[in-house]
Amino acid sequence: MSAAAPTWDPAQYLRHAGHRARPFVDLLAQVPDLPGDHPRIADLGCGPGNVTALLAERWPGAHITGYDNSAEMLDRAHVEHEGPTPGGGRLDFAHADVRTWTPDEPYDLIVSNATLQWVPDHVERFGAWVAGLRPGGTFAFQVPGNFDAPSHRLMRDLAHRHGLTDTLRHDDAVLAPRDYLARLVDLGCTADVWETTYVHLLTGEDPVLDWVKGTGLRPVLTALADEPETRDAFLGEYREALREAYPAGPHGTPFPFRRIFAVAGKGVR
Ligand SMILES: C[S@@+](CC[C@H](N)C(=O)[O-])C[C@H]1O[C@@H](n2cnc3c(N)ncnc32)[C@H](O)[C@@H]1O
Repeated sequence: MSAAAPTWDPAQYLRHAGHRARPFVDLLAQVPDLPGDHPRIADLGCGPGNVTALLAERWPGAHITGYDNSAEMLDRAHVEHEGPTPGGGRLDFAHADVRTWTPDEPYDLIVSNATLQWVPDHVERFGAWVAGLRPGGTFAFQVPGNFDAPSHRLMRDLAHRHGLTDTLRHDDAVLAPRDYLARLVDLGCTADVWETTYVHLLTGEDPVLDWVKGTGLRPVLTALADEPETRDAFLGEYREALREAYPAGPHGTPFPFRRIFAVAGKGVR
């Protein structure tokens, strides 16, 4: 079975919103102040908009647009977060495909959190995005770097056994940090690239399965939407394997999660 665009479930995704927002907060901490009182900001793959709203907290006068291609995610973002912001700015959301999105006005900041791993060959888009920045503008992103983690290896093995080999992304969904650095510097940017492994302490029953149901497992859940028996068999086997790989401790289930970050400045900052 070949890959189809996954459907998203904002409620499932937001079940771990606190842990998922942390890398975005850490990314923003390295983004320099933006010029003027009303900077222009794009958030590529904004999801349900809760982290986009953090941009409005930092830059309350900014015009911020979150772009996504999931109707489900955009609905949630419109309802929960769209509107004027306290500093005279505005937060809005629009449908766009990150594979082809090209800035049609100058931006001060283009940011993307936990999305580019879904966009094959995303580095090929960096040139257009950096070109769309004002001089001194910033391009900042974060992607997971955990495609070799047990959660993903086990998922891929099972998918293979269930005839879903082409459904999942492979370990080349993202580049190594040094390759992102090289690409950004080649484009004439200053670049700060780093990686971190968070150890999220998850609670509840089968919390790693619950986590991936909101993200990495979406392609499998989408592919098996009309095959409930196969889906339940898959989930049963995967649940058992995850329990072994991520045993619960006395205070919860530690879930190590590597992430890669980049903050690039166009021209002199
Ligand atoms: C893991 S979520 C991240 C959402 C949000 N940035 C956050 O940090 O919570 C990935 C998002 O990327 C979006 N996405 C994936 N591929 C996309 C594409 N080609 N164009 C636009 N959005 C895309 C999905 O719809 C989803 O909302």
